[in-house]
Amino acid sequence: MPDLARWRDEARALLAAEIAPADVAWTAPGAAGVLFETPLAAAPATARVPARFLRLADDAILHRGAGTHATLYRVLWRLSHGEPALLDDAADPDVRALTTRAAQVTRDLHQMHAFVRFRVVADDEGDHRVAWYAPAHHIVERGAAFFRDRFPAMRWTILTPERSAHYDGHALRFGPGAPRHTAPQGEDDLEDLWRTYYASIFNPARANPRAMRQHMPRRLWPQLPEATEIGGLLAAAPARVVAMDPRPAITGAPSLAALGEQARACTACELCGPATQVVFGEGPADARLVLVGEQPGDQEDLAGRPFIGPAGEVLDAALADAGLDRAAIYVTNAVKHFRFEPRGKRRIHKRPSAYHVRACKPWLGAELAQLQPRVIVCLGATAALSLIGSRFRMTEQRGQRIETPWAAHLLASHHPAAILRVDAAARPRYEAELRADLALARSLL
Ligand code: URA
Repeated sequence: MPDLARWRDEARALLAAEIAPADVAWTAPGAAGVLFETPLAAAPATARVPARFLRLADDAILHRGAGTHATLYRVLWRLSHGEPALLDDAADPDVRALTTRAAQVTRDLHQMHAFVRFRVVADDEGDHRVAWYAPAHHIVERGAAFFRDRFPAMRWTILTPERSAHYDGHALRFGPGAPRHTAPQGEDDLEDLWRTYYASIFNPARANPRAMRQHMPRRLWPQLPEATEIGGLLAAAPARVVAMDPRPAITGAPSLAALGEQARACTACELCGPATQVVFGEGPADARLVLVGEQPGDQEDLAGRPFIGPAGEVLDAALADAGLDRAAIYVTNAVKHFRFEPRGKRRIHKRPSAYHVRACKPWLGAELAQLQPRVIVCLGATAALSLIGSRFRMTEQRGQRIETPWAAHLLASHHPAAILRVDAAARPRYEAELRADLALARSLL
């Protein structure tokens, strides 16, 4: 597995010797790790980099694609050579490459957590569970730690083409990879259990073959006992449509940070498949004002932060005009995953449906329950649908105070993206109204 600690040592030595990225040739000799061509003596840790870079690097380094180490070093170099805010530039090709790779690795981990299927093998000591799984990236070690924590009393083995992980109920060990045919095939009770489970959680109201393929990628089907059910369940779906409520399971009353962590694994609706990552709210835990948008856009989806793209620029300007400091405000969205339609290489924003708003509402509710803000401003109709209801009409109720259990005051205003969309003649009026609504919110704080 690529080793971040080792890469850091090497990158630090290169940086200390002022060797520019263009002069470094990174080589990746298989599982042995990664080395740059001429090893240098270890250098003292002089470079200070943002924790965000280290988090990104921690995930991106597990990506199987070529060039990650070079990109990481280029970003590190730029961060320490006059571009300390580089990571804020989501459109920068290096930042984008790293963010995308980190997100793909995270998704691969989620898939491993969800789709490893153990088969029971009896040995001298009793039941031993064995699974064969082919992850897309170098995630075996990290994925295995999840299973150790999840099944601490079980003995299990996960075989993958690259590495194998073994847990004996006490310690986790790793060994060489194994081809598929070495894993137990065939039927057993667990397989039936998975099939029954899958059939019972299958939601015919949301039967969407394309989304199902994204959520449970075709390359994994041969490994999944329940995949044999998909055809039949899809065929029967129209007849089985029933009103069902998608609900993420939120455990306890977690802090905002813990909520964000839980939300990363949310699969309550199908948007989790195509989106890069969950974009959770951000801002101080003692914020008295909360702004709720619709859903992350393209740039937010890549960066994992709300309102940092074009709509964010409009919002920042309106906040400044209204005398509000964004750093003191909690900014979030009614829907936490980006809904879009792929068109060639572009991803076109698609408004979330009432179904998606309902699926995500528990997250928004939990954020508001933690924050207990004094004022909430819904930016646009989707946020208003989530917190006010379907009878809300922007043309009639914009800027009016509305009763809510979430805060002493709640009002709704234009979405900043709507300001970007309206024709030039109407734009000044929209801008003035958003500014006035935010100023009203400020006066209520
Ligand atoms: N639009 C939104 O509603 N939210 C974002 O985070 C970005 C754009």
